[in-house]
Amino acid sequence: MDLDTALERLPKVELHCHVEGTMRPATVVDLARANGVALPTEDPTELYRYSNLDTFLEVFWLVQSTLADRGDWARLAYESVVDGAEHGLVYRETFFTPARHLDAGQDLRDIVAGLAEGLEAGERETGARVALIADIDRAYGGAAGLEMVRRLVELRRDDCSGAERVLGVGLDSTEVGVDPTDFAEAFELAGRQGLRRTSHQGEETPPSFIAAGVDVLGCERIDHGLSILADPELTRRLADERVPLTVCPNSNIRIANRVERLELHPFPAMRAAGLLATLNTDDPALTDLDLGYEYRSAQQAFGYTWDDMVTVAADAADATWLDPSEQQALRRRILDEGDRLRPDAP
Ligand code: HPA
Ligand code: ZN
Repeated sequence: MDLDTALERLPKVELHCHVEGTMRPATVVDLARANGVALPTEDPTELYRYSNLDTFLEVFWLVQSTLADRGDWARLAYESVVDGAEHGLVYRETFFTPARHLDAGQDLRDIVAGLAEGLEAGERETGARVALIADIDRAYGGAAGLEMVRRLVELRRDDCSGAERVLGVGLDSTEVGVDPTDFAEAFELAGRQGLRRTSHQGEETPPSFIAAGVDVLGCERIDHGLSILADPELTRRLADERVPLTVCPNSNIRIANRVERLELHPFPAMRAAGLLATLNTDDPALTDLDLGYEYRSAQQAFGYTWDDMVTVAADAADATWLDPSEQQALRRRILDEGDRLRPDAP
């Protein structure tokens, strides 16, 4: 087997992927037509034009706005699992960001139930497993974030359909000009209620925002964390504490425009500094990416060996929110498959 095929088939864990960012172009068009959402164009190469995080988010928000009911969320979730599994996905903790839907009158209960229904169908078909992370949208502010967490706590308490799949909360959307402290109350409530915590930090902001994610919001994981190496002390601390960073190298190039080309991405330097940095796609369908490409392109650009890539894949098991015995089993599965798939030299 050649290296690219082996990388495509290697079992992979993904911890930074927005379910709305997995929506197939054909599904965007279908749902927009069905739900009366006007698209400026139905051609994805025209529709997906952006040059930084904020212009990308305008496209992301338009795609999100096509999701009108439980069935739409179920279709999206189902397709996301099938499409991921095609590239070796075996376990994912996926974000959904319901602020704009809640604002438009949808109930979090129906969104979670729809997502869970679609994920379950995708799991049955592929054998992959998928959990959920409810992201707070920074653009909607701290009060809306707190309200979402309160509603999520209610759904879990009432044992509503799919609520057990939501392992934790996250924080995404625009970074610049937003104070992380605004979300402290929402994160505090989530932590008190036993929800796990992560947040997007340091994609377009300095390391002090990454530190705030950990110290102010109580996050045990950081999404992106791209700027961390600018603060050697924080780097050492997160490495020592094994706080995972869910890094999205190709997204940093295509969406945020923070890195010119993959060869210049700090991912290898992050790993060399001892950080538990994992590989992820972020918004694969909106950026023409997939998890197989993420691994293949990283291997090439960073000059990694097969064993390096298997180690990167297996380390992601430790960064999950599975319990330790499940983490161990997942790591073992990746290492065993890594041995079995070992490509022919060179
Ligand atoms: N950053 C912030 N918010 C997002 C992203 C991202 O990369 N993708 C979808 N929402
Ligand atoms: Zn993201």
